[in-house]
Amino acid sequence: MPLTIALDGPVGAGKSTVCDAVAKRLGILHLDTGAMYRAAALKVVREGISPEDAEAVCRLAEKGQIRVSVRYADDRQMTLLDGEDVSALIRTQEIGQAASAISRYPCIRKRMVALQQEIARSESMLLDGRDIGTVVLKDADVKIYLTSSVEVRAQRRLKQLREKGDQTPYEKVLGEVKARDEQDMTRETDPLRQAEDAVLVDSSSLTFDETVEVILDTIRKRHAGKE
Ligand code: DC
Repeated sequence: MPLTIALDGPVGAGKSTVCDAVAKRLGILHLDTGAMYRAAALKVVREGISPEDAEAVCRLAEKGQIRVSVRYADDRQMTLLDGEDVSALIRTQEIGQAASAISRYPCIRKRMVALQQEIARSESMLLDGRDIGTVVLKDADVKIYLTSSVEVRAQRRLKQLREKGDQTPYEKVLGEVKARDEQDMTRETDPLRQAEDAVLVDSSSLTFDETVEVILDTIRKRHAGKE
């Protein structure tokens, strides 16, 4: 039986990089489900559709024109849109915000959830996102909810921006993180929340390496308890 690990948490909790490191140490694949919503958002933006226009977004989805897929090369996820590798193009603030907006629509979630479940059926995987422990992999072997304070998450985001030479002020970054939390946690369909059986990991005062170790430890303990 493949091992399934579900890791959810809010924007800026460091899920992606932490999960890459954890999956590598466990020798399993990591599926960043946020990247799939981002690729779908890129399609919407490319079509000149507003992410706020639910009807137009769903029309596109229902016509089968949001073709997102995932491939692995050297154990690294490549996220494809219409067969094009868009992994780098989807890492912008604009696409993140658009992904958050379109991920509210059931017409989008239904397809993404089915695709993610299909990918996770094939082999042992660590999935990260917002609804993995509550919807996508309700029976996951281990569930983790990774978070940290909104201020710490905004500071981390600020650091990433500064490294790219972006001088957006802290208050604006903090406001954006709060707005994204609000949108992801209060939407009607599958909002971000901690699954009842998930272990909470608060990384506010942990370094990256410490966070990875705490998560590995949690997985070992939880998984051992089930064997
Ligand atoms: O993790 P991220 O910032 O790349 O995700 C982008 C958006 O996609 C996020 O704001 C909400 C949505 N998302 C979701 O609704 N469900 C998931 N499993 C993953 C992401």
